[in-house]
Amino acid sequence: MNLEPFKTLLLDTCGFTFSNDREQTLRNGLTQRIAAHKINSLTAYHELLTQDQAEMDALVELLTVNETYFFREPDQLRLMIDKLIPELMKKGRAAPIRIVSAGCSTGEEPYSIAMLLHDKYRAESLNLFSIVGVDIDSTAISSALKGVYNKHSFRGMDSFFLEKYFVPLEHKLFRIKEIIRKHVYFQIANLNAEPYPPAVWNPDIILYRNVSIYFHSDVQRSIFSRLAETLNTGGYLIVSSTETMHHNIGILSLVEIDNLFVYKKMPSAEARNSCRLNEGIRDKIKKSIKTDKILKNPLRIKKSINQLKDRNILEANKDKAAEKLQSKEQDISFKRAFDTAVEYVKNNRKVEAVTILKQLIEQEPCFVNAYLLLAAIFIDTQQFIEAESACNAALSQDEFCLPAYLMLGIIAHQTGRNDESFNRLRETIYIDSNCWPAHFYLAETANMMGDKKRALSAYQSALDIIEKRNLLEKDDSFFPLQFNAEQFSNLCRYKLKILKKSK
Ligand SMILES: C[S@@+](CC[C@H](N)C(=O)[O-])C[C@H]1O[C@@H](n2cnc3c(N)ncnc32)[C@H](O)[C@@H]1O
Repeated sequence: MNLEPFKTLLLDTCGFTFSNDREQTLRNGLTQRIAAHKINSLTAYHELLTQDQAEMDALVELLTVNETYFFREPDQLRLMIDKLIPELMKKGRAAPIRIVSAGCSTGEEPYSIAMLLHDKYRAESLNLFSIVGVDIDSTAISSALKGVYNKHSFRGMDSFFLEKYFVPLEHKLFRIKEIIRKHVYFQIANLNAEPYPPAVWNPDIILYRNVSIYFHSDVQRSIFSRLAETLNTGGYLIVSSTETMHHNIGILSLVEIDNLFVYKKMPSAEARNSCRLNEGIRDKIKKSIKTDKILKNPLRIKKSINQLKDRNILEANKDKAAEKLQSKEQDISFKRAFDTAVEYVKNNRKVEAVTILKQLIEQEPCFVNAYLLLAAIFIDTQQFIEAESACNAALSQDEFCLPAYLMLGIIAHQTGRNDESFNRLRETIYIDSNCWPAHFYLAETANMMGDKKRALSAYQSALDIIEKRNLLEKDDSFFPLQFNAEQFSNLCRYKLKILKKSK
């Protein structure tokens, strides 16, 4: 059976690729459809396919992999409900916040989101959020609309949600309750065809999980670009954790939140500059800066660190700021307040944390860790101007403060200022050559600048340093930044593979 004309047709229309192990699926599908039409010529069936959309749909149904279940990759869903959505709501997005499940199959994914949102926001969730599920497979969409499931779909689901949101039917089947069913709008749509239907336009969050694996790499790139284009600025695109790295192609920013990687559409430079300053904190921080000499001349830092290294007093100098604080830290209430701020940050109560940190800084303007924690919060909330001010304030107290340099490098990287990112990260590495996150972000920046050679060597350095450490070891050396060494090492390996291939 000559599959080539069908492969070409299916690649052009749906983006499907049929490598060795999937060829048999294509052969079976064609055999089944040809028998149904009682046609005995492949050419005639090919012609029918090109002319008859219903026939194309019937074949596609046999070729798609609809495997899905409720609450698949629950950590990603939790992140979305607990962090991403509250952040979007806080930023004053006009309601409803729009969520699209691209390649939703039989509906388990968008219904899982609807259940989680209803559980958290009750009836109000219908007004606050719009949820859309699209899929190329019309049979899968019909099934999603019916909302009837068997035990196979519940294998990742808590009985709490089964009892709360499903009605038992005969034959061990369950129907999703109307309050959830009516919240999700389903539509047949081909992600590889233009234009996308309006239901998919301008979402704040797109889940595009376990769909791209069957696409040719060019199609993966073009669909990812189109989804990124339609995504609202500040919005998130979530792919499954196994697919994350394939999509890190410089279209959206890969951000790490709670040890999970998601893609974010960063605001443009103008939008960033116009972002509202947080209660004048920037001015307050500016006032507390005693000197800004450090960031004016990166070469001078290198020189001065060199001199200090020669004189072997770098370590002593680093301890100075800590000493300054010692007496304050002995003040138990002061220390307790800082620990409370750290706890607030861990529990995503950033507003409360910022309030405490501002008070602490007012009492003790040389409290470096308070500036660092503020900077980390501001990076998280995309308030990059404030984050930079806080880093500079930390540096004015401790001119070799490694996390401040590292954060400045990351901020510059995230805001597309590659030259600056490069300088800040090199300075970080100069202070501590084992700072693997700096090597990693340096590699990312070099990659963005098209400097493959430098990117390769920096990814390799990051990987070498990580591999020398115990992955499970808790590392506080970059306080307040927490990096998941295991995920970063996987990312480095993947990047190295891609870069070596493209050489
Ligand atoms: C494995 S399921 C994933 C379902 C769900 N996203 C999940 O992660 O559980 C993949 C789905 O992608 C759909 N799909 C494949 N190609 C598509 C395309 N070009 N446009 C829209 N959906 C597509 C398939 O029909 C299938 O239902």
